[in-house]
Amino acid sequence: MGKPIKITETILRDAQQSLIATRMSTEEMLPIIDKMDQVGYHAVECWGGATFDACLRFLKEDPWERLRKFRDGFKNTKLQMLFRGQNILGYRPYADDVVEYFVQKSVANGIDIIRIFDCLNDLRNLQTAVTAANKEKAHAQVALSFTLGDAYTLDYWKDIAKRIEDMGADSICIKDMAGLLVPYQASELVSALKETVDLPIELHTHYTSGVASMTYLKAVEAGVDIIDTAISPFAMGTSQPATEVMVETFKGTPYDTGLDQELLSEIADHFRPIRDKALKTGLLNPKNMGVDIQTLLYQVPGGMLSNLTSQLKEQGAEDKFYEVLKEVPRVRKDLGEPPLVTPSSQIVGTQSVFNVLMGERYKMATKETKDILLGKYGTTVKPMNEEVKQKVIGDKEPITCRPADLLEPELDKLKKEVETWSEQEEDVLSYALFPQVATDFFKYRAAQKDGIDPELGNKENGTYPV
Ligand code: CO
Repeated sequence: MGKPIKITETILRDAQQSLIATRMSTEEMLPIIDKMDQVGYHAVECWGGATFDACLRFLKEDPWERLRKFRDGFKNTKLQMLFRGQNILGYRPYADDVVEYFVQKSVANGIDIIRIFDCLNDLRNLQTAVTAANKEKAHAQVALSFTLGDAYTLDYWKDIAKRIEDMGADSICIKDMAGLLVPYQASELVSALKETVDLPIELHTHYTSGVASMTYLKAVEAGVDIIDTAISPFAMGTSQPATEVMVETFKGTPYDTGLDQELLSEIADHFRPIRDKALKTGLLNPKNMGVDIQTLLYQVPGGMLSNLTSQLKEQGAEDKFYEVLKEVPRVRKDLGEPPLVTPSSQIVGTQSVFNVLMGERYKMATKETKDILLGKYGTTVKPMNEEVKQKVIGDKEPITCRPADLLEPELDKLKKEVETWSEQEEDVLSYALFPQVATDFFKYRAAQKDGIDPELGNKENGTYPV
């Protein structure tokens, strides 16, 4: 009984995204990569998610260059990225040609494993990316966006897992972005999936609600193959359980990971000063490091809670926080009870804020709320509220096809738009995801090359309009 458990280390992507808003620079990571490469992780998650946006927007780094540096350094370790299905790493659905090209370039620059998810678990939104990953000989992992609710029974998860296996995925991840999966339920869920499919099962959770390491323990006993952990200085809180703790937990058992604690401790030594600095500057908020019991009570992901707080603060309406928190599950129900993960978490969160602040529900609806009601994000597991639909989109007929079927190929048009600034083939993909932010970055990059201090800019001749 039992087998060695594999570890995916998240420090370079999810751990730093969850705790310090993805602000770790490539320079801070590179010196430790050689050591990390000796550990024998199943994989290192290092790219995708919010890293791409943060590189361009805040760090003024080329995300592709970062990936190539990782690839140079990690000679023995598989590199993993997180991919939002048809939304790639952005916030809107893209045409298939852009999705395919992004997958192709990610693999060409060094990615081995692509974890692909859809915020509605509408598998039609994953097919293009999965097929493209297969074609590029990358490992296509499909993630179930885990959530709770009437519709999300064991039968629902089993059915969806079976369909994921049929669509050509190489493994399945249970992606519990909010830390809602409690230990005994994890045991049931993992057992059910193991009975249903032959694919390896990976579990990804967050410590937000305080149960995560117990959840891993029960999941491992139930047969899960891989768990996602973060090196201790960036573990727990809104991040993952600590790597060293899980390694020690299974030592000397049939689940022994075989990882070397000495080596892990040297890696932790590298990241500790980075954490201390983040604490000092306020980038790392101690609030995000404890147990957030609201997550269990309201089933709202940690990241969404902090977004709601800042949205309300901007409006000078912080006193409405609990009212908004209560509105979130109601809006979620109206919109077909989707999992709350990017971008559905933003859609539900922002609409909840509107509903409370306007004093009348759906008096104002965001474009994204309209689009989700119009079927533009895909099909939800439950039907949407007809009254809300009537109020927001009137008699407009929602689409029922795969949303990307309605999108014309857009790669050629994007290539033309970015022509002036493009220095590498990958630039069109940065531009596709974040047109304004990428253009600003391209200008910054050009200014640097011309020896102009980009921080100061040169507004006179327009070389670098800040
Ligand atoms: Co995560």
